[in-house]
Amino acid sequence: MLKVVILAAGKSTRMKSDTPKVLHDIAGVPMLRWVVQASRALSPQEIIVIVGHGADAVREEFAADKLTFVTQEPQLGTGHAVQQARAALQGAEQVAVLCGDVPLLTAETLARLAETHRDSHAAATVLTTVLEKPAGYGRIVRDELGNVQAIIEQRDLKPGQERIHEINSGTYIFNGPELLARLDKLTNTNAQKEYYLTDVIHLLTGDKKPVAAWCCEDAREVLGINTRKELAACDKIARSRVVEQLMQGGVTILDPENAYIEAGVKIGRDTTVYPYTAIHAGVQIGERCEIGPYAHLRSGTVVGNDCKVGAFVETKNAKIGDESKAGHLAYLGDVTLGKDVNIGAGTIVANYDGKKKHKTEIGDEAFIGCGTVLVAPVKVGKRGQTGANTVVPHGKDVPDDTIVVGAPARVLKKKA
Ligand code: UD1
Ligand code: CA
Repeated sequence: MLKVVILAAGKSTRMKSDTPKVLHDIAGVPMLRWVVQASRALSPQEIIVIVGHGADAVREEFAADKLTFVTQEPQLGTGHAVQQARAALQGAEQVAVLCGDVPLLTAETLARLAETHRDSHAAATVLTTVLEKPAGYGRIVRDELGNVQAIIEQRDLKPGQERIHEINSGTYIFNGPELLARLDKLTNTNAQKEYYLTDVIHLLTGDKKPVAAWCCEDAREVLGINTRKELAACDKIARSRVVEQLMQGGVTILDPENAYIEAGVKIGRDTTVYPYTAIHAGVQIGERCEIGPYAHLRSGTVVGNDCKVGAFVETKNAKIGDESKAGHLAYLGDVTLGKDVNIGAGTIVANYDGKKKHKTEIGDEAFIGCGTVLVAPVKVGKRGQTGANTVVPHGKDVPDDTIVVGAPARVLKKKA
C-alpha cells in the first residue's frame, strides 16, 4: 500500500506573486493539479498535500479532489514538511514524495520509478536526471561502484561537486518504515538552516540500506518552477504536448508554435486550427471545423461538426450547432446556436447588462445580418433573420420564419 505526499507549502519568494505558486496555471490548469493527476498513476491509497503559504486558496481549489491536507507552519524545509505528515503515514508500506512545483512529470515516468523501486528492493529510489546546467539543484553523489551515496544541495557542495551533472528531481519513493525511522533524525546544520528531506538518503546509506535511482531521459519532465520565466517555459512545453496529442488524434494545426491550446481541450478529426488561436481548458470542438486564425474560444464553448469560428470571433459559454458559421468579428457569449446558423460579421451578443449575464438562443437556419446586436435575454426563432445593423432588444424575440430590421436611435432617459 502506497501513499503520496506532495510538498506545496513553500513561500516561492521568487515568483513575486500574491497567488500561491502551485495555483499558477500550466496550460490553463493549476500547477498542482498536474502533479496530483500524475501521482494517481501510482494507485495511492491516499494523497497528502502539505500546505502552508496560501493554504486556504489551495484547499479551496482542490476541495472536490479527495486529498488530505496537512498544514506546515512555519516552513522549515522539505524534511520538516514530510515530518508533518508523520501521523498520516503510519502503516504505509511505501511513500512517494513529489514536489508541487514540478508539474511536467508524466504518469509513465512515475510508473517507471515505482518499477525500479520494486525491482531493486531498495529502501529509497530517487528520480534523477542529467542537466547540462545543474546549478541550483541538489546533486546526486555516487560511490566508485555507482551506488547513490547522498544528495548534496547546491549551497552545501564541496569543491568539485559542482561538476556533478546528475541532479535530484525532488521525486522519490521510500519504504515507509525506513523513512519514518529517519525523519526525526534530520538536523538543520546546513547552509540554509533547513531540515532537508534529501538528508534521509545519506542516513539510509549510512545504515547500509541500498538506495536506487531512476534517471529520467527527458530532463524537461523534472523542471522545477521557481520564477515567472520558468513558469512560461513549462507552460510552453505543456501546451506543445497538448498540441501534439491533438495532431495525433487527426487535427490539423497549421502552426503548432502559435496555437494556444490548453489542457483538456477536445477537437474532432479533420478540424483545422489556424494560427494565433486561443482555446481554453475544457472547450470541445467537433469534426471538420475551421477554427481561427485569431479566434478566442473561452470556457464553456462547445462547437458541433462542420462549423466555422473564424478570425476575431470570441466565444464564451457558446453552444454552436452543426454546420453553423461565424466567419469574422463576432462576440458570442452565453448563447445557444442551432444547426446551420449563419452569424454575420460584426454580430454582438450583448449578454451583460452591467449587473447580470443573460442567455440568448438562436434557432436552426437563422441568418443574423452583419452588425446585429442581440440584447440578451432574447430568442431568434428557426429561420429567423435580421437585417444589417439591426438591434434586437431584450425580450423582443424574433419569431420563426420572420425577418426583422432596423435600429432607430431614440432617447431612453436623461441621466441624473
Ligand atoms: C529541492 C531539493 C533539491 C532538488 C529540487 C528539485 C531539498 C532539500 N532539496 O530543492 O535537492 O534538486 O528540490 O526541484 O529537498 N516545501 C515545503 N515546505 C518547506 C520547504 C519546501 O512544502 O518547508 C515545498 C515547496 O513548496 C516546493 C518543494 O517543497 O514545492 C521543494 O522546495 P524548494 O524550496 O523549491 O526546494 P529546492 O531548493 O528547489
Ligand atoms: Ca524548487
